[in-house]
Amino acid sequence: MRILLVGGGGREHAIGKALVRAGAELYVVSKHKNPGLARLAKEYGLAKETDVPKVLEFAEKWGIDIAFIGPESPLEKGIVNVFEEKGIPAVGPTREAAQLETNKAFARSLMARYEIPGRKLFHVFDDVSEMRSWIDDFGKPVVVKPLGLTGGKGVKVVGYQLRDNDEAKAYAEELIRKEGRVLIEERTDGVEFTFQVFTDGKRVIPMPLAQDYPHAYEDDKGPITGGMGSYSCGNHLLPFVTREDYKKALETLKATVEAMRKNGTPYKGILYGQFMLSRDGPVIIEYNARFGDPEAMNVLPLLKTSLLEITEGIVDGNLKGAEFENKATVVKYLAPKGYPVSPVRGVKVEVNEGAIAEAGARLYYASIDESFTLLGSRAIAVVGISETLEEAEKMAQNAIGHVRGELFYRRDVGTRESVEKRVRIMKGFGKEFEPNAC
Ligand code: GLY
Repeated sequence: MRILLVGGGGREHAIGKALVRAGAELYVVSKHKNPGLARLAKEYGLAKETDVPKVLEFAEKWGIDIAFIGPESPLEKGIVNVFEEKGIPAVGPTREAAQLETNKAFARSLMARYEIPGRKLFHVFDDVSEMRSWIDDFGKPVVVKPLGLTGGKGVKVVGYQLRDNDEAKAYAEELIRKEGRVLIEERTDGVEFTFQVFTDGKRVIPMPLAQDYPHAYEDDKGPITGGMGSYSCGNHLLPFVTREDYKKALETLKATVEAMRKNGTPYKGILYGQFMLSRDGPVIIEYNARFGDPEAMNVLPLLKTSLLEITEGIVDGNLKGAEFENKATVVKYLAPKGYPVSPVRGVKVEVNEGAIAEAGARLYYASIDESFTLLGSRAIAVVGISETLEEAEKMAQNAIGHVRGELFYRRDVGTRESVEKRVRIMKGFGKEFEPNAC
């Protein structure tokens, strides 16, 4: 089966590896040549992922059976609509369904209309004085968000990036003047986690939970990035997420898929729920219409079911199930020095692939070209997989030592101390629970 993978980051390297492991014949289009994917692919086309006509041209030339869309930007451009019109089924939602990620106003009003559990209080404003008086009447800390895709940037929270609701009003006014609209939400306190599922539009198949480290520097400091690493546990929960919280979060994702069907915008592909675990249970913060990056690298190496079978199940509407190994994983991303503000670019790095394999770790390439030159974003990920979190973290850490260059990473991703910190934060918010072993 000829599968076209669109995208060339670490997430796509993990998808490509899982597809080839399942027996797919892999074809890739992305804006740079990912050295890992280049080795797996039968053919590699260079084009911007958002240049849908060009991507389609490659797909038709290669006689592709199914397309698998990695990032959100081509989904926003309607790549799935275009491919389906040409008779090429695709894993990923249509432009309309991808609005769950690409249009926050759409996502929020869907949640309200279909009463999806775990939703936040929100309001969309295009009028500055209405926005100001709503925030004043609300009186509690708020979150201010732009409505479209921002690559993780632009969201500001009172108590973090904003001092108080007065600063929130000033920032919201700036967004209304610039973009015409703004989303204001109640702030929910807690700890974030990632819940990814496969869906064919009806069935929802869960993957192990993961936790991302979005801040650039140790101890959750510094600017927000795409994610400097992530971990997952052998029981597929997280130390601070109880079985009951897990069930509630899964209910939210199931209700979302059902709402999308009733709404006339059926959703298929991968749905990523970014949840905040509050004292009262999981609250949905955002949806993503694709795998997480790095979180794809936590779950895909554990997949026991063939990803090709899952791919066919998603596009045929008869998704059966997915089994994952009960192991802990730790992903650590190496990014160019200065990322995400002023990253080093154009310099080479050295990767001792043999030594990384000997350390027992997996290696995924991302924003790096075939001559191992840094392109400016997260460059290389190493993944430790083992029975315990400690062992997985050690494995990833040992692998890091076999990559040299102008790079940095977060030593604390997946360490016992940083996980315990998250448990303490949850307890500090008044949640009573017995932490799960990881
Ligand atoms: N790691 C966050 C994301 O993929 O959006």
